[in-house]
This record gives sequence, C-alpha cells and structure tokens, in this order.
Amino acid sequence: MKHTVVTIQKAKEQGEKLAMLTAYDYSMAKLIDEAGIDMVLVGDSLGMVMLGYEDTLSVTMEDMIHHTAAVSRGIKNAFLVADMPFLSYQTSVYDAVCNAGRLIKEGRAEAVKLEGGSAFAEHIRAITNASIPVVAHLGLTPQSFHSLGGFKVQGKSEQAAKKLIEDAKAVEEAGAVALVLECVPAKLAELVTKKLHIPTIGIGAGAGCDGQVLVYQDMLAMFGDFKPKFVKRFGEVGAVMKEAFQTYSQEVKAGVFPAAEHTFQIDDDVIEKLY
Ligand code: KIV
Repeated sequence: MKHTVVTIQKAKEQGEKLAMLTAYDYSMAKLIDEAGIDMVLVGDSLGMVMLGYEDTLSVTMEDMIHHTAAVSRGIKNAFLVADMPFLSYQTSVYDAVCNAGRLIKEGRAEAVKLEGGSAFAEHIRAITNASIPVVAHLGLTPQSFHSLGGFKVQGKSEQAAKKLIEDAKAVEEAGAVALVLECVPAKLAELVTKKLHIPTIGIGAGAGCDGQVLVYQDMLAMFGDFKPKFVKRFGEVGAVMKEAFQTYSQEVKAGVFPAAEHTFQIDDDVIEKLY
C-alpha cells in the first residue's frame, strides 16, 4: 500500500503505530521500502553518517536534493520526507517555500521536515499553502544545538514542558501533517501525542508516540562506537560488513578470489594467436 498524508493520519486515528527510518541512497531506500517501512526520512543526519561532518549544520540544499532524489528512485510505498537543512528556511518565509519546493520538484520528496515550534508557524503555514506537506520537529532540534547548549533531553522543567506543548499545538494549527519528537521525556511525549490530532513520531521519546524513527546506521550498528540511550541495535551489521571486507582483502591477497566461477572464459586457440 502506498503511504500518503491520508494513510499516516488514518494510522493515528486507528491506533496503528508508524515505523519510520532514515535513508540516504537508492539501494538502502529500496531495501527499507521492500521491508514495509511506512515512512522514510532523508534526514540532515546525512551530514554526519554519510558525509562525515561533526554535526548537521554544514548540510546544503544541494546535498539534500542529491540524496533525496536517489532515495525517491528506490521507494514505491513509503511516504518520503526530506529534511530542510540549516538556514534553508530560518532566513525567511519566502526562502522556506522556495527551498521546500526544490525538495519536492528536484528531490521528489512528498513532504519536508523542519525544526522549530511557534516561531516557525508562519513558515509552516506558507509551505502548506503551497501544497507541500510539512512534518514539524520539536524537542532536541540538532540544528539549534549551539543555542540549546548541546545535545540534551528537552522539556524536563514545567516551563520547558509547557512551551513544548504550546509549540506542538502551534505547528499542528499551522498545518503540519506530523510531528517528530526527539529526546523528550516519555510521559511528556505521550501527553503531546494525546493532545494532537496529527501523528507524533518519536526518537528518544518513548513508546507513547504514534510512531518511531531511527537513523538506520544506528539501528544496524554501522556508525561509531557511541550508542545513544534511545537506540536499539536490531542487527550487528557493521561487524558483519567489516568481517566481509576483511575476508575479501585476505582472499584477494591470497589469490583465492576471483575463483573460476567468477571468471569469463575465452577459447584457447584465440589466446594462442595473441602470443
Ligand atoms: O536528521 C535526522 O535523521 C532526523 C531524525 C533523527 C529524526 O531528524
């Protein structure tokens, strides 16, 4: 079944959980889509897991369009969301609409995601008015880690929790079709989920959200030694890959690979004429 804004909204109404994963290229997107994942996010986390930056701030519109277009070619059924990178929407409502439009036109995304609450309600409304679905993102918003003072759980004090609830209502009211909640206490995320009509997708926000999202390199143990508390490793794929690369190297060096079955043949009399 092809997922759309309508099916993800219906999932919330029917109490069915949504599974979302990140993807950044064609072959991984195809695997994820074939596995039946409901939503795929081309996250600006690509800056870290694909491009080797320390954070997401250096990711450009060109990076996002390039990777989103590749992912879109691998997807048949999942609902495809692309992140708006740092300073592609914060600068003005006009920039927000133009850059969201590029992710849809050039990247073939079906929705865009942006970080921020009531301060970006106008941006969300304008993008939505341009017929582009918007997924909002609250809690730990990595593009703001300098102003947040680092990568920390958000919404723990009464004041911060109230602000998060207000922001969640503001983005829904502005037209967001879903809300990502990152690194928020589980009980607060559950309360936000109950207060909203749109689905919430949690990452480090507990089981009370309408869905979950993970970065695929994290859940496959393919990226770094640090494992955030909210990540569950569903496969030790990084170790399996490393072992396969080592075996390949050993076989090449030992002359074991390629074997006869990996090799193309030519008639001996043709070869003899070449000497
Ligand atoms: O960039 C990203 O991958 C994200 C998810 C962690 C939600 O925003």
